[in-house]
Order: sequence, then structure tokens, then C-alpha cells
Amino acid sequence: MTNTTINNQAFLAACRREKTPYTPVWLMRQAGRYMEEYRKLRAQYGFLELCKRPELAAEITLTPVERLGVDAAILFADILLILEPMGVGLEYAAGDGPVIHRPVRSAVDVDRLKEFKVDKELSFVIETVKKARASLGGKVPLIGFAGAPFTLASYLIEGGSSRNYVHTKQLFCSDPSAWIRLMQRLSSAVAAYLNAQIAAGAQAVQLFDSWAGCLSPGDYEQFVLPHTRSTIAAITSGVPVIHFSTGTSGLLKSIRAAGGDVIGVDWRVNLDEAWQQVGYDVAIQGNLDPVALFASPKEIRSRVADVLRRASDRPGHIFNLGHGILPETPVENVVAMVEAVHELSAR
Ligand code: CP3
Repeated sequence: MTNTTINNQAFLAACRREKTPYTPVWLMRQAGRYMEEYRKLRAQYGFLELCKRPELAAEITLTPVERLGVDAAILFADILLILEPMGVGLEYAAGDGPVIHRPVRSAVDVDRLKEFKVDKELSFVIETVKKARASLGGKVPLIGFAGAPFTLASYLIEGGSSRNYVHTKQLFCSDPSAWIRLMQRLSSAVAAYLNAQIAAGAQAVQLFDSWAGCLSPGDYEQFVLPHTRSTIAAITSGVPVIHFSTGTSGLLKSIRAAGGDVIGVDWRVNLDEAWQQVGYDVAIQGNLDPVALFASPKEIRSRVADVLRRASDRPGHIFNLGHGILPETPVENVVAMVEAVHELSAR
């Protein structure tokens, strides 16, 4: 199957658990460093600068659609952009990943976070959504996204990526009321941000709770679930919400209880078992190990077949990786994966 035979309805239909002629596929981080087109732009501009230039960000959004033949485009932006107007000092430091210069560690820090208007402070993202949607011309749908309150809180509090989330867990254990204020602030900011993306043309949205897997089931239920639930409940109705997390095979029932029309899972759980746990009244997204893309096309094909077999032709499966594509991934293997999904699932 090639680009030209893409069914522009397949992705949204699968989100609604309707029958599709084949299983739709897209990849988390499909626009990124594994692509030469992206690396060329990055040689000229910083990452944050690219995000803030809607013309370029829209172009990057479209590249994988043309190059890979995927069934959806995802907005080129980052989950941490929403933290910058809160006044905490966001920087993408070369080699070190993202840094928050003034992390939130106490109730005083929480109350010092700035209120902001999405349309004003994040207008560049909204502009990118409009441009990308127009350039796509209905070829495939556009997915908007945001970080979930917990994953955003973990960056705000730790000041960057973390191994053990000590400061984050310390805050909810030692000052639960400050934690609740922080999560409520994030929850309403994220909902407003996603609704602005939807108003600008995003046709589905994904909420990334990438680091929820560090939590015990009890802590997830008490300190995270209510806030993710209120974020999702506030999203414009009728627009599919994909609720994604990693390392949460022990939390899937709670993740599902927080909401989402589609539950995104990583490769640490078998797709059939995950779907059974969350229930067949939601769609499922996943879940090939991103490292499988370093294997031969033959091996990739057999692993794709395994994931598809576990979805067992039930309507409501969106094929994806279990997490973002890695920068060293060979592009031709990604193309082989997309083709394998389309061919092996054709019905
Ligand atoms: O999926 C896409 O192609 C859309 C764009 C997108 C990016 N980040 C671009 C990006 C999306 C959806 C994200 C989500 C994101 N960002 C998450 C959730 C998904 C996940 O991976 O768990 C998280 C945790 C972040 C935070 C973030 N942004 C980190 C930790 C890093 C540094 C690590 C890294 O991969 O470089 C970033 C930077 C980032 N975001 C890059 C891209 C293309 C690389 C920037 C560069 O070019 O140097």
C-alpha cells in the first residue's frame, strides 16, 4: 500500500471504534531527528525556535505524512511549551534535554506560577495548527497534543527529566493541598490549550502522561486520576481523546477510569491483555517496541503481525509504537513498518 491509497477517514473512524479498510498507523515523534529533513532544519535553528516559527513547524508536521504514508499527522510542538508562560524558565539545553531553571518545590512556588492566556502566549502553536491543517488539505487528520497534569508537574518540580521523582512525590506526600492547587492549575491550563488547538483545527488530541508509570496504584488514584479526569472532561466534546502513558500495565484500569476514547499503551504489556483490561468499549493504540525498528524488515514485519494478531481484527485499534521513535532509527525501516501494517491488516 502506498501514500496514494491512504483512506483519510481510517484514523478518526478507528478512534470511534468503527470498521476501517485497514488498521491506521502513525508514530509518536514521527517528526524528529531520525529524519534528514528535520536534521537539516535543526542545523539552522534551535528546537524552541522551530516551535515558534509556525511556517517551519507546519512543514515539519507534514514531512512524515509525505515520507512515511502514515494515517495521521501530529502537530510539531512539545509538551513543555505550556510551562514557559508560567514563568519557570524553560530551556532545551544541548545534550541535557529540557531544563526548568526555577523548579516548583513548595506552596509558595506553586502560588507564584503566572496565569496566562493561551491565545496570547502560545499563539505560535495555534498558528501552526491552522497552517498544518490547511496544508494537509484533508489528506489525513491532524492530531493536537499536550502533556497530562502529572507529567507536566514532574518536569516543573524536578526541573527536568528524572529517575526517581523524589521531589514530586515529596510534594504530594508532604503538602497535599499545594499539590492539589498545582494540579488544578495544570489541569485547567491543559484543557484550555487543547481546546484552543481544537478550535484552530486539530481533529483529535493526545494527552501524554509519559511518566505516570512511576506511581503506585494508590498514589495514581489519589493524586493524579481526579485531575486527569477533569482535564479530559473539559475537552470539547465529539473530538477523540487519546490517553497515553508508559509503564502503566499495573494502572490500566485507573488510566481508563480517568477517561479517553483511545487508551495508548507501551510494549511492556501485550496489546490483547491491555485491551481486555481497559475494556472493549474504548479504542486502543500501540504498541510495538521502538527498538524493533532497528531489526531487519523481515523481523519488523513479523513483530507487526504479532501486534495485529493481538488486536484480532476488532474495530478500534490504532497502530503505533509503544513510545517515541528513537533518533537513530533508519527511515527505511519505518517505511517498511508502515507498509507492513497497511498490508497485513487489509480487510
Ligand atoms: O510526535 C511528534 O512528532 C510531535 C512532536 C513532539 C515532540 N515532543 C517534539 C520534540 C511530541 C508529541 C513531544 C512530546 C513530548 N515531549 C513528551 C511526551 C512523549 C514522550 O516522549 O514521553 C515528553 C516527555 C517531552 C519532553 C521532551 N522534549 C524531552 C524529554 C525532550 C528531550 C529529549 C529528546 O528526545 O530530545 C524534548 C525535545 C524534543 N521534543 C525534540 C523533539 C523533536 C528533540 C529536540 C531536538 O531537535 O533537539
